[in-house]
Amino acid sequence: MTQTEIKDRHIPTFLLSSPLRRVFENPYTLLRQFVKGGMTVADHGSGPGYYTVPMAKLVGENGTVYAVDSDQKAVMALEKKLEKLGIKNVKAYVSRDLSPIPDESVDFLLSKDVLCCTVLHKELAQDIWRVLKRGGKAYITVRLGKVGKDPRAIGAEEFFSLFSNAKEKGKTRLKAWVIIEK
Ligand SMILES: C[S@@+](CC[C@H](N)C(=O)[O-])C[C@H]1O[C@@H](n2cnc3c(N)ncnc32)[C@H](O)[C@@H]1O
Repeated sequence: MTQTEIKDRHIPTFLLSSPLRRVFENPYTLLRQFVKGGMTVADHGSGPGYYTVPMAKLVGENGTVYAVDSDQKAVMALEKKLEKLGIKNVKAYVSRDLSPIPDESVDFLLSKDVLCCTVLHKELAQDIWRVLKRGGKAYITVRLGKVGKDPRAIGAEEFFSLFSNAKEKGKTRLKAWVIIEK
């Protein structure tokens, strides 16, 4: 098996949509800093849409949200949720990369704990940069893992080196994040 054939880690959709999550993590707290009405935004590794739905509400009917996840089940759960809520401004794709999104088309991209679920670290970092408009921003987070055993795991050093031009960055014992601007 080659490195890129190693499967992405998929997280059960019930865990990502758990009502308990709202108690600890309000998606609007983060998104309101970056997302405005009429924007084109992307939720990379959207899962069943914990951040996608708030993004769709914040950009409004004149905005667009691209939601991309490599887990077909997660995308199906997202599509079902969107239909139930009558949300029509989300384009959802099953994909391991950001190829469904055109070059330089996105004002803001969120990649929340995705790079730590795949071996495609470098490829996705380049793809995130490709889809951003000039002046567009991305907020990228990872759960830090022990490097060596699982090739999908990412350490802080590798993560920060992928985004060496980050405008802001930070880390705790378990997590690391960057904000980049093109
Ligand atoms: C920890 S979950 C986070 C989901 C979502 N961002 C959230 O915060 O609710 C990681 C997600 O990334 C997806 N994923 C893993 N590798 C991926 C890849 N190469 N491309 C797109 N999505 C991927 C998984 O299927 C999973 O839904």
